[in-house]
Amino acid sequence: MTPGSNRREWLLGLGAGGLAGLASGCVASPSRLTAGERRLLYQAARPLPVVKWMRHLPDPRSVLRARALSGGAWGSEVLGRLDERMRETLARSGGVGLAAPQIGVSRRVILVQLQDRDRQVLTCVDPRLRPLGPETEDGYEACLSVEGVGGLVRRARAVEVSYLDLRGQARRRLSRGWEARIFQHEVDHLDGILYLDRLLGPLLPLDEVRRRRAKSRAALLGEEDGLAWVRPDRPSPGSGPSRRGNTCPEGLAL
Ligand code: NI
Repeated sequence: MTPGSNRREWLLGLGAGGLAGLASGCVASPSRLTAGERRLLYQAARPLPVVKWMRHLPDPRSVLRARALSGGAWGSEVLGRLDERMRETLARSGGVGLAAPQIGVSRRVILVQLQDRDRQVLTCVDPRLRPLGPETEDGYEACLSVEGVGGLVRRARAVEVSYLDLRGQARRRLSRGWEARIFQHEVDHLDGILYLDRLLGPLLPLDEVRRRRAKSRAALLGEEDGLAWVRPDRPSPGSGPSRRGNTCPEGLAL
């Protein structure tokens, strides 16, 4: 990855006139910001809203249906800015994962809240997934971009994630269970795929999804895997002991 500061200064130095040819409707080149991207990252009010998918009025031209460009082609300064904007939006949403297209930036960058003890949010640039074995798992998902509903989706039970960090260093992580599901959901976003495309059954109201997840969660408590986020010894912020076991306090939407 090229040093970001020089690239950013060069891009900002172009000014509005210089960027006129990079209007949001133009095809982006891997290393340059479009005018639309520049506005979102440097000028728009914060936090940036989540781009919604209108199920009853689908728009095939939506950024949510595009194959995103490499994020690694951007320098670390611009990537850092994108990371900031995504984290603001994720924090506001209360979700556990977010892909850059969900804030309108068609770049291959995702955030995933790791489901280990610290629950840190990991930024992955140009992530690639490799299933670890043939095992799959059916589980309920919802999406910050698709309001009010969720559904059952089959995912690989465990994956190896290869990605670049914000400094351009190659990293790997082995992930399974719920966390592996988050990675798969977010990487799908980078290819214009929504969980709606992978449904095993009908779309359900979120309350029903929560009920079903709580039921399966109760059966899995004590199992040491990616569902650790609901373990009784680690209540999530804002969820008291009385809520555990029969609610889905957080982390439903991705
Ligand atoms: Ni989503």
